Amino acid sequence: MSKVALITGITGQDGAYLAEYLIKKGYIVHGIKRRSSMFNTDRIDHLYQDPHVENRNLILHYGDLTDSLNLTRIIGETQPDEIYNLAAMSHVKVSFDTPEYTANADGLGVLRILEAVRLLNLIPKTRIYQASTSELYGLVQEVPQKETTPFYPRSPYAVAKLYGYWITVNYREAYKMHASNGILFNHESPLRGETFVTRKVTRAVSRIALGMQEKVYMGNLSSKRDWGHAKDYVRAMYAILQQDEPSDYVIATGITTTIRDFLKMAFAEIGVEIVFKGESVKEVAILNYIDENVFIKRVGEAYLDAFRKRIGEEVVGVDPQYFRPTEVDLLIGDATKARTRLGWEPKYDLNALIEDMMLNDIKLMKKESYLRKGGYEILNYFE
Ligand code: NAP
Ligand code: GDD
Repeated sequence: MSKVALITGITGQDGAYLAEYLIKKGYIVHGIKRRSSMFNTDRIDHLYQDPHVENRNLILHYGDLTDSLNLTRIIGETQPDEIYNLAAMSHVKVSFDTPEYTANADGLGVLRILEAVRLLNLIPKTRIYQASTSELYGLVQEVPQKETTPFYPRSPYAVAKLYGYWITVNYREAYKMHASNGILFNHESPLRGETFVTRKVTRAVSRIALGMQEKVYMGNLSSKRDWGHAKDYVRAMYAILQQDEPSDYVIATGITTTIRDFLKMAFAEIGVEIVFKGESVKEVAILNYIDENVFIKRVGEAYLDAFRKRIGEEVVGVDPQYFRPTEVDLLIGDATKARTRLGWEPKYDLNALIEDMMLNDIKLMKKESYLRKGGYEILNYFE
């Protein structure tokens, strides 16, 4: 008999990698997807199976973390062995604009799932993974951060996730549920949402190299993040639910990097050196040098002449609209517990992550630019 997993947030970055990972392990995966006016399944289209196929291993259900009845029905119908609660309004800056909705989905949503499992008498059967976050550490009280570090959330997102964290611990202690928190530090990939900083950078650097964009405007360049690859982090989620005893785990690489250095590394990936000048909102990065062999290999000879002409020009600026009312300046995790108890080790370092993201975005942006040119040709044809 195949094990059954239910993933909320299956259309997101982590949901997509986790679904693929569990299907490879022989699971039947149910996923909860929100209704939207367009298809929103790009990240899992390669896994999708037509409802008429027999013995499907991926089944999608419409649902929402703000809808208790719907969550209870889906959990009752699917009788999962494992629930991975990954759904969330996951953008920290946006949570300042939508604080009530964020509290509802990211905080109360967790309670709805735990309570559904309890009311359906599924406690002996169903194990629950809650997607907790390093944002809980916020204004950090200890460096590096580990499971025992006190929390100090700094955004409506982090405060909502704090509720999610503690209600998971409470249900574990009160009802002996196998419910665990993964306190995951930032993890990225080619599937990362386009408005998170790493993907914003890898897309922009690709577009600048291809002549599709002149400059990228950023927020706080000095904050530091502990970035890993999402593929490594979904392995940890799975491992947490395979333990005999539920518990909470920090998942991190232990290395922290500024946004400024991430930008330098992304440009370096295509053989380009940038130099930062100025301070605060006047800070800019200038295109300083091109290693033409690397540029040709990574981007293509056709783009070199136009790009060479841009030496000395600004390619990065700062726009205060991307600043947050309260910032998390430094995150760096200590994943000793995960390493020793789960045997978890990340396979990707930051260079390998950036290479993966840049290769993907250069390819994607070339396609976009080609389609755009094709689009114009078709328009001209009809004129
Ligand atoms: P993501 O790409 O933003 O995906 C979020 C998923 O949640 C999407 O499938 C989204 O659906 C869904 N969703 C949002 N609101 C929902 C609602 N009300 N009801 C049902 N589904 C809803 O996020 P991610 O990077 O994969 O992260 C997965 C989880 O880990 C999130 O809970 C996030 O807060 C947490 N986390 C992430 C990181 C990280 O660095 N990536 C680190 C720590 C914790 P749509 O596709 O329809 O928008
Ligand atoms: N998004 C964004 N856009 N961030 C920028 C920008 C910009 O233009 N410029 C600078 N930053 C800074 C932010 O101020 C923040 O300090 C850092 O880059 C990282 O921002 P994000 O990539 O948006 O991620 P996050 O750290 O706020 O949140 C992510 O990681 C959390 C785990 O620590 C999200 O995935 C959360 O859902 C997750 O919990």
